Amino acid sequence: MDRILIRGGNVLRGDIHISGAKNAALPLLIAALLTDEPVTLSNVPRLADVSLLLRILRELGAETALAGRKAGESPFTGDTVRIHAPEIVSTTAPYELVSKMRASFWVLGPLLARCHEARVSLPGGCAIGTRPVDLYLKALEAMGAEIDIEAGYVIARAPGGLKGARIVFPKVSVGATHVTLMAATLARGETVIENAAREPEVSDVANCLMAMGARIEGIGTSTLHVTGVDRLHGAAYPVIADRIETGTYAMAAAMTGGDVLLRNARADILDAFIEVMDEAGVSVTEEKDGLRVRRCSDALLPVSVETRPYPGFPTDLQAQLMALMTRAEGVSTIRETIFENRCMHVQELARMGADIRLNGDTALVHGVEHLTGAPVMATDLRASVSLVIAALAAEGETELNRVYHLDRGFETLEKKLSAVGADIERVSG
Ligand code: UD1
Repeated sequence: MDRILIRGGNVLRGDIHISGAKNAALPLLIAALLTDEPVTLSNVPRLADVSLLLRILRELGAETALAGRKAGESPFTGDTVRIHAPEIVSTTAPYELVSKMRASFWVLGPLLARCHEARVSLPGGCAIGTRPVDLYLKALEAMGAEIDIEAGYVIARAPGGLKGARIVFPKVSVGATHVTLMAATLARGETVIENAAREPEVSDVANCLMAMGARIEGIGTSTLHVTGVDRLHGAAYPVIADRIETGTYAMAAAMTGGDVLLRNARADILDAFIEVMDEAGVSVTEEKDGLRVRRCSDALLPVSVETRPYPGFPTDLQAQLMALMTRAEGVSTIRETIFENRCMHVQELARMGADIRLNGDTALVHGVEHLTGAPVMATDLRASVSLVIAALAAEGETELNRVYHLDRGFETLEKKLSAVGADIERVSG
């Protein structure tokens, strides 16, 4: 199994290219199942999760082709993926594949909308909480689907097709919004989705669906109106820049007192994060080609943050912020309100000398003068990258194990970081 070795202490300086967002690319690839014409997505990140999803789409009958430059080439222009599903040959998404990545469960929406039936394994994914699917199933039932759970599979049928409905989500869910939105594009009549997730990746999918001929109003707001159409057509669409990768490298730069330009990054989808950085004494400013990140002072200042659905502070940046705050001058309060088990990085950060006191969903992070390199273990995608941020400022060497978590969501992480001066290498075996 691969490991990553990091020797801390180097200051990061230079440019990092921000890739397309994993959390947009996955549902966009899935949305391509809604049409029998080709959908061509550009700026798709090369990630283990994308490869796995393409495998699942092929099982269902889609043809997939990759084109474009690879990451690390200069200039990086992103990658292009063409998905063409002229015919859905299977409406079953098997356990062996879906259990490896939660987002693949979302094929349920297009399969049901296009084929009027689907058999999809209940999902797996990161071990960050129980992550139920009740909201998805209730929404599809409201649209006329009959749903049974048998032997770990969701069996959904909508003889005669889905019909429009008014759906009020009791809780904001990104995945349930994606699935309901995709399903509604081909349903008969109007669907209103209230308390919809407003994440930029949801809007990205909605905009792509519009390019495919869907009729959607209210994109970017918490109420989406979808008027079903008989069929969708092909489209070419670029994946939005990854705001989580942007925030992660911004905090990596801030941790080392560096000065980094995040090329292709967008400030308008990171307001809450930029405000927190400001409070921490880190300046994030817009430039022509992206965002520049610099520390404004020698010391990092403590912050008080709660994770919230967009436009709030993203849960996917919580672990990285906690790592950054281990070196702040004072005590930070970080509360996780989205997932109940998303603090597994606390123990690993403690192995590096961090002083974090966890009380329920709230962590009190007491800044320390030094972190020390140590062997640590990645437990989930975002937690693992928080250990990388800590390691960049730690004295000595950190050995990060189970890096397959990182490969799921960060494209060529060690190349991007070593290009701006980090002492980081991947060791195979
Ligand atoms: C997506 C993101 C993930 C991010 C999360 C929250 C992708 C591929 N993943 O995950 O990176 O951390 O949004 O921003 O885009 N819930 C229910 N019932 C349901 C569905 C969800 O109770 O049927 C709960 C979850 O347990 C969680 C909360 O709702 O507590 C939010 O989860 P959700 O927004 O659905 O997360 P994902 O779509 O899985």
